[in-house]
Amino acid sequence: MKRVTQFKSNCSSFDRSVRSIPSFTRLVGMEFGGPVWVSHSSQGFTKGTIDDITAQSIVVKKDEDGIKIAAPYDEVFPIDDEDRSVEDHCSLISLNEASLLNNSKLRFEEKHIYTYVGNVLISINPYESINGLYSEDRRMEYKGKSLGKLPPHIYAIAEKARLELKRNKESQSIVVSGESGSGKTESQKSILSYLCTGHATPLQQRILDINPILEAFGNAKTMRNNNSSRFGKFVEVHFDGENVCGGYISHYLLERSRVTSQQSGERNYHIFYQLIAGADDQTLTRLKLDKQPHTFHYLNGCPQFFGNAPSNRCSGETLSDALLSDAQQFNGVVKALESVGLKLEKIGQVVSILAGILHLGNIKFIDDTADMKGGCKVDPSTECHLSHASSLLGVESNELRTSLVCRIMQPTKGGVRGTLIRVALKPGEAVVGRDGLAKAIYSRLFDWIVSKINNSIPLEDNKETKFIGVLDIAGFEFFKHNSFEQLCINYCNEKMQNFFAERVMGEEQLLYQRESIPFNNVQYTSNTDAMALFEGKGTGILDILDEEVRMPRPSYANFTSSLHKKHEKSFRLDKPRGSKEYRHLRDEDGFLVRHFAGTVCYETKEFIEKNKDELHMSLEAAMEGSSVNLLSGLFKTGVDGRSNINKLRASTIGSKFKAQLAVLLQRLEKTGTHFVRCIKPNEHMESGKFNGGLVLSQLRCAGIPSLLTLMHSAYPSRIAFNDLYSLYAPSLPTKLAKLESRLFCKCLFRALGLSPQDYAFGTSKVFFKSGKFAEFDTIVQGESWNISFLIDKTSRFLVTMRWKMVQYCAWSTIKLNRKISSRREAALTIQRYSRGAAIRRKYRRRMDVALKIRRLLSALEKVGETEMGEKGKIEDKLISLLDSVMKEDLSVGNVMASYNDCVKKVDDMIIALKDAEILRKQKEEEEKRRKEEEERERRMEEERALRRRIEEARQKEEEEWKKRKKEEERVEREEKEKEERQREEKERKRLDATLNAERRMEENVGPPQESVANDLSTWKYGELRDAINNSTDIEMLMACKAEFHRRLRVYNEWKMKTSNQNGSSPLPPCRPLPTTNCTLKNNEHRYFKIPLGGAGGQQGLLYIHFDGQWVGRQMEMRPGQKPALMKAGKDDGKMMHMSLEQSGLTRRKGAEIKGEEFDTVWTHLGGEALSVWKP
Ligand SMILES: Nc1ncnc2c1ncn2[C@@H]1O[C@H](COP(=O)(O)OP(=O)(O)OP(=O)(O)O)[C@@H](O)[C@H]1O
Ligand SMILES: [Mg+2]
Repeated sequence: MKRVTQFKSNCSSFDRSVRSIPSFTRLVGMEFGGPVWVSHSSQGFTKGTIDDITAQSIVVKKDEDGIKIAAPYDEVFPIDDEDRSVEDHCSLISLNEASLLNNSKLRFEEKHIYTYVGNVLISINPYESINGLYSEDRRMEYKGKSLGKLPPHIYAIAEKARLELKRNKESQSIVVSGESGSGKTESQKSILSYLCTGHATPLQQRILDINPILEAFGNAKTMRNNNSSRFGKFVEVHFDGENVCGGYISHYLLERSRVTSQQSGERNYHIFYQLIAGADDQTLTRLKLDKQPHTFHYLNGCPQFFGNAPSNRCSGETLSDALLSDAQQFNGVVKALESVGLKLEKIGQVVSILAGILHLGNIKFIDDTADMKGGCKVDPSTECHLSHASSLLGVESNELRTSLVCRIMQPTKGGVRGTLIRVALKPGEAVVGRDGLAKAIYSRLFDWIVSKINNSIPLEDNKETKFIGVLDIAGFEFFKHNSFEQLCINYCNEKMQNFFAERVMGEEQLLYQRESIPFNNVQYTSNTDAMALFEGKGTGILDILDEEVRMPRPSYANFTSSLHKKHEKSFRLDKPRGSKEYRHLRDEDGFLVRHFAGTVCYETKEFIEKNKDELHMSLEAAMEGSSVNLLSGLFKTGVDGRSNINKLRASTIGSKFKAQLAVLLQRLEKTGTHFVRCIKPNEHMESGKFNGGLVLSQLRCAGIPSLLTLMHSAYPSRIAFNDLYSLYAPSLPTKLAKLESRLFCKCLFRALGLSPQDYAFGTSKVFFKSGKFAEFDTIVQGESWNISFLIDKTSRFLVTMRWKMVQYCAWSTIKLNRKISSRREAALTIQRYSRGAAIRRKYRRRMDVALKIRRLLSALEKVGETEMGEKGKIEDKLISLLDSVMKEDLSVGNVMASYNDCVKKVDDMIIALKDAEILRKQKEEEEKRRKEEEERERRMEEERALRRRIEEARQKEEEEWKKRKKEEERVEREEKEKEERQREEKERKRLDATLNAERRMEENVGPPQESVANDLSTWKYGELRDAINNSTDIEMLMACKAEFHRRLRVYNEWKMKTSNQNGSSPLPPCRPLPTTNCTLKNNEHRYFKIPLGGAGGQQGLLYIHFDGQWVGRQMEMRPGQKPALMKAGKDDGKMMHMSLEQSGLTRRKGAEIKGEEFDTVWTHLGGEALSVWKP
């Protein structure tokens, strides 16, 4: 056959895809055509052979019908050693669901109903009594034996609890869980009998006797179990040392609805049937129960007895169960009631109440036509039952009637305070009230009986005792329709699962510790979010339900909707439509919860009613007044301690259960815990039948596969050295087989070359990593060993090992030696430091003071000396103080006092120095001010002198100027006189010339040109103008122009002189003769705007247009005056006569403007546009 590895080498591409499959490692060792387990709907797993391997699945050919199916990788497991059963599933070669199931089946078929997974006991209900399984001999066998020494047994668990209680002086609890009918109660009974049998004291006997009572009142026949416990219980057996010294029973969640209705085929609580079948005729006549069970409405689900009953009380077939017989058990119950201390009279009252409940159930109601309010009345045909019920319950017939058909209410608004209102009930409402009453009576009676049992097995007050508690609580369950009861049970199971995971993992780690195996924390899935879903404050299912119950008009739809709203994004809660199965349900009709063991859909229709725990006030009042004192006692202040007042505020079933569970968990947490998981092998309660599918689903619900998964990360497979030795020694060479078992295992592993990471050696066992035991087994079984090679390898290993051990010893000794010396050094260092620390601690205050003094001294050095010479004195004092501190002359207190004195003196000194400093600074300030004042005075004096000098210079200049002026005037006068003389001379010359000319004309000789040009001073103005305008002789023209200008300057000078005398124009007497016919060119024309500052503060603007060097146009604008526009040749007298150069305007910043601006102002003021200048 080809191994998968061989196949891999042939098909390398396929190999890659196979390698990528995460589960591939599980398949190593599996062969094509090799046997495998494959998932099967009814059998759990069935056998088959590998036909093909694809990337997603393995094709398996089933052995049973030859059909090939493609199964996912995690649903196919290799078959290892299918016929070998083991006591502990962890000892299986492969740890998986299939091998777990196969081993369970093998054991079951061998009539070994118990197995272990670690320390957890798995018990499969055999539905038959197995010979000697619970015999006294067997009980004795387990006494004092640790778990694992003997085959798995419920006694082993009980003994483990007992031994641990003794050894650890700590209370223990055994949690028994499982489906209905899986054998929890039987297991609990076995444990109790183990703990209480043997030298049974009356107390122990009483503890054993309580079971028939609890079963009669709390068990019933269901479709799944003929003796199903309809409540949870935690039975404590208290020990005082080795001896039983008391007990206590806590009970949870009695199924109240069963009192009034049962599914077809199911019965009411056993006690009703036992009463009818077992009581004597006289009693039955007194109780008016001398009728067939089917005549009672509350027994209608299944009106049959277990075992034979007197023929007058039984018609038709009876039910059969080896352990149940109603008629016989009634007497046992009565005896047991007596043994727990109930007097016959009380027992009589109990049966009266039970009979009363049955008669109550037969009362029917019909519409009362006479009642205007639409009320109802008792059906006349059932009047007899009303009277029987009232007499048995000790109530007036009419009072009971009225209480059943009316409801008393207290008005919340209006009405007189304390007034009670009677509200007539409809027939349906009356039936609900009647059933509520029956349930309330029964459940309180049950509570009372449990309290009586507890009183019969009392604990001595204040006595410190330890107990072993056995918890029998319904396991995780789900049906097609799940209601409030399943919710509570599954909530309880979530809590238990959480507890289980934490505890089991704890145990596992403890084992590693015991076996000295280094181990890191094991991770496991937590279901704390599921717990929060149930019990979260304000957001949990139970709180939301309670909230809705408190509403004036509670409705299940509201509850469901608000639940969905609050957990919209929760992984644990979903809407029914989210699943295929419950798609038919509306969102407000239910919700899905993802439990640790599977998803369950809860239908909420009856949640509100089931969660309520209320009874009509009228009915409560009637019961309170009952003449049967047991009954009135139940209702006065309920056995559960509730007050009848304020019923609405009384806790709901859900919240009560939650509180009870919290108390239970607190108790369990304080104890050492042991777990028993009960499994039901088939649905038909038949012996020898093993339904693999059913068992597997229960194993899953019990968290066993997940426990195995948890073990995967640890060392799930473990086997004692002896077991391993006996398993393989026969097939190995004698040299190896002769070794001591532990050494044998070591040699074997080394010789086979197993990796040390894959296993760990404990003190008594060898632990394998997941799957490694399988590999080891394959190697040992599968290869034909070369004996001499193995012996050789083993011998070499032994020699090497011994040599290594010697080396190790030497090395350890050296290491130890080093450790000792390093520790000695460390000790010295510690000593040094601690001594230093001690000395420092001792002298700390002194050192602090010395430090302070030194600091003060160094600070003092920086401070200057005062006039008083204080500094030196303080320094001396401080130095002497320092000496005292160092020499320990003075006490620290005295030194501190002196030091403080010095500090004060230094402070005073500093203050004095500071004052002196301030005074010094003030003086400096004043001196500085004085100097500044003197400097200012000096500067002002200098300034005054300067001004004087300037004034003198100015006056001097003025005098010089006047002198110059006078000189100029004198020169001018002289020039004028000279000119006059010259003019007269010229005139004379002209006359001479005229005479000459006449003479020449007479002699026909032309005038001499040069002389004319040189004698223009004689020409008139008109002659000069004509010559300028008309002459073509350039020399003549220039001469004329020069003459014109000369004349004009003379004229202007004269005019200026005269006007200066009048104080008018400041212009200098110079005006050139403009060019005739000149065209204006930009580069020859320049324009200026200057502000005017006239006499008398007058202001204005002066615009000047220079044509070349001379003024062409001029505008003067003064405020309040008409603007004056002047043109050269026309207004020369008024215009400026300085040349452009002389005016200095070109150097005046901002004075020059553009021609356009000038022209704009010119034309704006009415000036004529200038193109040709005409003089
Ligand atoms: N160890 C056993 N040996 C023989 N028969 C057993 C054993 N355990 C259980 N049975 C049978 O199975 C029946 C149901 O067992 P038991 O009442 O203990 O179930 P349960 O788990 O308590 O169910 P429920 O949850 O309904 O109370 C018993 O009446 C008995 O007939
Ligand atoms: Mg039970």
